[in-house]
Amino acid sequence: MRVLGIETSCDETAVALVETNPWSTDILAQVISSQIEIHRPYGGVVPEAATREHLRNLPLLVPKVLSEVNLTLEGIDAVAATEGPGLASSLLIGHSYARALAIALSKPMFGVNHLEGHLFSPFIANRRAVEFPFVGLIVSGGHTILAHALGWDRYIKLGSTVDDAAGEAFDKVAKLLGLPYPGGPEIEKNAIRGNPEAFGLPRSFPERDNLNFSFSGLKTAVRFFYEKSAQMQQADAEWTYDLCASFQKAVVDVLVRKAVQAVAQARVDRLAVSGGVACNKMLRDELEFACYEAGIDLILAEPAFCTDNAGMIAGVAAEKLAAGVEARCGDDINPNLNLFAPEPGGEAARGLHAAVQLKNRQGGQQVAEQGDVPATHEVEVW
Ligand code: KG4
Ligand code: ZN
Repeated sequence: MRVLGIETSCDETAVALVETNPWSTDILAQVISSQIEIHRPYGGVVPEAATREHLRNLPLLVPKVLSEVNLTLEGIDAVAATEGPGLASSLLIGHSYARALAIALSKPMFGVNHLEGHLFSPFIANRRAVEFPFVGLIVSGGHTILAHALGWDRYIKLGSTVDDAAGEAFDKVAKLLGLPYPGGPEIEKNAIRGNPEAFGLPRSFPERDNLNFSFSGLKTAVRFFYEKSAQMQQADAEWTYDLCASFQKAVVDVLVRKAVQAVAQARVDRLAVSGGVACNKMLRDELEFACYEAGIDLILAEPAFCTDNAGMIAGVAAEKLAAGVEARCGDDINPNLNLFAPEPGGEAARGLHAAVQLKNRQGGQQVAEQGDVPATHEVEVW
């Protein structure tokens, strides 16, 4: 089965061609056109500029991917594109292009949830067949989610951020410190030279059974130190390194601790990690150490597969096709597409979610309903 995938949910135009075989899904060809240089002067993604770039790039990248493997459009079995979540105008370009292609070729079309793509990218990147059940940690610029993956379209939310996403916190703190966009790699570069214990920064939700995240208190604490020490920053170059190192350590501590807790709580033994923040070397090292200690099979994609790519979108569609899951595509994009919402006709997912909630309540454990945000953000200084 060969699937052509298109990903345009934000500021990367990505196209990939994948092929399934009995033991894994392989990437035959893929290209990513990054728009970082276009958006960098603005300190963030400008939706209109992103849309124009997708429109310009897509008709060039699709033939490029096919020509890399000497294939024509007739040689593909299905088309896939990101349906949501993401920037509406960006999603619309890739989704419309893919739908037009699928109609013209009379091939099935899969509208893929971007988060589902992230959940599966570690498997595809490591050329491993998807093995359910597992816990997925997605740490990107827009999301910080812990999901229990039971099967195709059967995902239970274990935790998520109640405010900023981890990548967003990296980007905002970098901006505060005068570092360029995107902030994650810049903070990491500075952090390597700093002392992670220099500043006592807060870690949110320390209770064991709470798998939610909050990064706004941490961001405020960084701002507090930054504003209080304006003179020190100029006098001491080490100061910025130390603040970056302490901030990075605070984010990594929380992500690693909650991911390991989630695996225990879900009673599984596999953890798949993806999203742009998973490029961070300290996070990767600490996850590897913690998972080794806890006997967890850690599936970590190499950095090129952590950030947005089309291989993960095509891969989800190809694996579903091979597993006999019916091709499904909405008439329109959905910028707020929910990974956990019951799919049309997905009674199994709905029933399962309710059953897990009931079971947890009976066990005296309160599980937040989807979209619930705790009233207070408990923050503890370690
Ligand atoms: O997954 P991604 O490419 O896009 C979204 O779907 O959001 O993630 C981008 C995010 C940005 O916030 C960026 O600052 C962060 O990932 N990021 C990093 C690193 N590389 C990228 N954060 C921390 N350390 C890094 N090395
Ligand atoms: Zn993403």
